Amino acid sequence: MNLINRPRRLRSSEAIRRMVRENHVRIEDLIYPMFVMFGEKKKIPVSSMPGVYNYSLDEYLLALKEVAEAGIPAILLFGIPEVKDEVGTGAYDHHGIIQEAVRLTKLHYPNLYVITDVCLCEYTDHGHCGIIQEGKVLNDPTLKLLAQTAVSHAEAGADMVAPSDMMDGRVAAIREALDDEGYSHIPIMSYSAKFASAFYGPFREAAGSTPQFGDRRTYQMDPPNGNEAMLETALDIEEGADIIIVKPALAYGDITYRTKEQFGLPVAAYNVSGEYAMVKAAAEKGWIDEKRVVMESLVSMKRAGADLIITYHALDAARWIKEDQL
Ligand code: PBG
Repeated sequence: MNLINRPRRLRSSEAIRRMVRENHVRIEDLIYPMFVMFGEKKKIPVSSMPGVYNYSLDEYLLALKEVAEAGIPAILLFGIPEVKDEVGTGAYDHHGIIQEAVRLTKLHYPNLYVITDVCLCEYTDHGHCGIIQEGKVLNDPTLKLLAQTAVSHAEAGADMVAPSDMMDGRVAAIREALDDEGYSHIPIMSYSAKFASAFYGPFREAAGSTPQFGDRRTYQMDPPNGNEAMLETALDIEEGADIIIVKPALAYGDITYRTKEQFGLPVAAYNVSGEYAMVKAAAEKGWIDEKRVVMESLVSMKRAGADLIITYHALDAARWIKEDQL
């Protein structure tokens, strides 16, 4: 047979496959989310996320050593406060858990890039991402608290802030507050396309942030909507977002692709808790090859256009990437 085009020619050995490989996951692309809390000698496993823990600050420092040694450039910090209240005071307290953790991180690992999640849901007793009145999440009064939270993170030494609340206008409010307080150099990585997803379940166990009534559908986006994600992203960019997060990652590759095509800004895909939990569960049962499934998932995010990947698999992925380079 005289076939001129035979794509299989470039698949015939590992060497040639590597040579023509179009996308790669680099250790430099990875951002590792971590959960910190007060107390000592506590490393509490999150049952729905094997390998993920709630760390007291001393244990957190030990874990950071691993992160730094793995060559992972950045962490995304979530805090679990000692007390929660109606207005999420713990989020913007100078001595709050995130503020303390950031100071400690910068003291011991000044070169590790520290990103803080800016939201109220871990700090409110009702578990919503904003202030509540008569069962409704109020937008504009929440903005002030989010801005205050972001400034307090910057004061503590955070390198970048990541608002995940989905209130309208929060990027503008945070940008303005940071600029006013002398933090015009601190970038905002905005959860612009954040969907009201069932894939956040395990995270809410980890952060104790399940809404006590209702759900987040009045502020997070409706999963079937793609054009709306482009609107949210356009607004966030106008308001001053520097990096765009698409969240979740696996079921939303189209959104990552469109965001990158349309706006060109750096895009981060957030490979969320439920996505992690599914892989871990299937791997524990021996039903899938964990390494191959994880790396295939992560590279799909790169292929879709993501520059950065926020993932609980970061430590494993960094190890596997190193192994494969040998
Ligand atoms: C806080 C926040 C959530 C996640 C990141 N920031 C939870 C939520 O919106 O309910 C989810 C992360 C994950 O599932 O891994 N608003």
